[in-house]
Amino acid sequence: MILSRRRFLTGSAAFVGTAFAGNAWSNSRRPELPIPTLIDGTNEAPVHLQLREGLWSFKPGIMTPTLGINQDYLGPTIRARKNRELNLNYHNTLNEGVAVHGHGFHVPGEVDGGPQLEIAPGDRWSPKLSIVQPSATCWYHSHTHGKSGEQTYRGLAGMILIDDDETDAMDLPRRYGIDDIPIVIQDRTFDEQGRLVYSLMDADEDGWYGDTVVINGAIAPVAKVPAGRVRLRLLNGANARFYIVAFADNRVFHKIATDGGLLEAPVLMTTMEMSPGERCEIIVDLSDGKSADLFTLFEDDVDEAEEGIVSGMLGVLGSSEVAAEMPSLTLEVDTSLVPNLVPLPEKLVNIIRPKASDVVRVREFELTMEHGGGASGHHGHAAMDMAINGASMDMNVINERVNLGEWERWRIRSDMGAHPFHAHGCSFLIDQMEGATAPEDQRGWKDTVVLDDDDWSEIVVRFDHVATDQFPYMYHCHILEHEDRGMMGQFTVT
Ligand code: C2O
Ligand code: CU
Ligand code: CU
Repeated sequence: MILSRRRFLTGSAAFVGTAFAGNAWSNSRRPELPIPTLIDGTNEAPVHLQLREGLWSFKPGIMTPTLGINQDYLGPTIRARKNRELNLNYHNTLNEGVAVHGHGFHVPGEVDGGPQLEIAPGDRWSPKLSIVQPSATCWYHSHTHGKSGEQTYRGLAGMILIDDDETDAMDLPRRYGIDDIPIVIQDRTFDEQGRLVYSLMDADEDGWYGDTVVINGAIAPVAKVPAGRVRLRLLNGANARFYIVAFADNRVFHKIATDGGLLEAPVLMTTMEMSPGERCEIIVDLSDGKSADLFTLFEDDVDEAEEGIVSGMLGVLGSSEVAAEMPSLTLEVDTSLVPNLVPLPEKLVNIIRPKASDVVRVREFELTMEHGGGASGHHGHAAMDMAINGASMDMNVINERVNLGEWERWRIRSDMGAHPFHAHGCSFLIDQMEGATAPEDQRGWKDTVVLDDDDWSEIVVRFDHVATDQFPYMYHCHILEHEDRGMMGQFTVT
């Protein structure tokens, strides 16, 4: 089946307003939410990041071979700051090459970490990043040519938080790990020995789905939080899965930020979709003292369940597998923690959209998947050609040349299936999403936009940093198996 998300969007009203069964799960045997170590990258001292092998316990009593950065699985959270320099120092101790990309950064191509910047086994790479963009939740992950999917799946990913003065002045919750919590959502499949199962060759058209949701590397963890406002920085760090995020009691939350920074104003929501690569920040109010169960539903399951006209989310949950049995994450109130009770500001930031006359050029991108000749049956997918504008990723080809500092309109279309389209080196604004005006919660700065089959999404974008022929930027589908199979192109900015 090829995921099409239109059904979720049109059918979502059916389950909004239906409550879950509630807290029927026992929290006692659930793991605590792992909070990655926070490294301060705001004082120009080099941040040492060792890419290494690890052993990580996803399941009680079982050690799973993994990859990680300074730790066994995933990497530390790095704090950066606008108008400061972030100095990274990667050391690749693996026996394979790795390129590490800073996703969401407005930095030149030579420090962007695309596949041209692969770090050989034993080598180091020390990019200096001048941070000139506003506060945002970014991330870093493997971008190795043909291996982004596998290396990210095994653990090569982490978060980078950018702060700035404007946001600091807002009294948003910002105590890391207490009321400002990084949440990396992924799904993984384990074999009988507890090893991670991954195969690019065996992935079907939708990409590689895991059957078990892991949050910061833990299955159905519990986080102790203060009885006040809590900020969750959500990252869909899955290879291919689209999630629908909602609380069991249909609790409302405010979305305050998209990929590239704060929204103009908080948007009240009860369910939210997240595609691979996307981040968002939400504020949830726990001042009622009750714990909150967060669900990350598989959008494809919701699609299937809706086909059978299942009433409400409970039916959806009943039809799913492991991921459905327990909340993905429970926020449990701990009254010994000092709460943040400051009301949310009504206004966050100003977003200045370019005027139509500022846009000097239109570019079109079409994402295609086609079965190659000869392949048939379940394992014929490897022959599928994935391309953008008819071209599969070729390290020796520059697909587009963009002028520095000029606004452009990019019209992006999917020929088949839903895809999250991502561009390096920028944040953009979505004008049209799937043929309609972008919803309110998508009107912030973004670097990933979803397209469904046979729909156009349109963005306006400007690049303010240079990317040369030697170190170009990439645009691609963020389903990592699509990317690894060539749904990616290179572009320069000069
Ligand atoms: Cu998150 Cu080109 O990647
Ligand atoms: Cu990126
Ligand atoms: Cu795709």
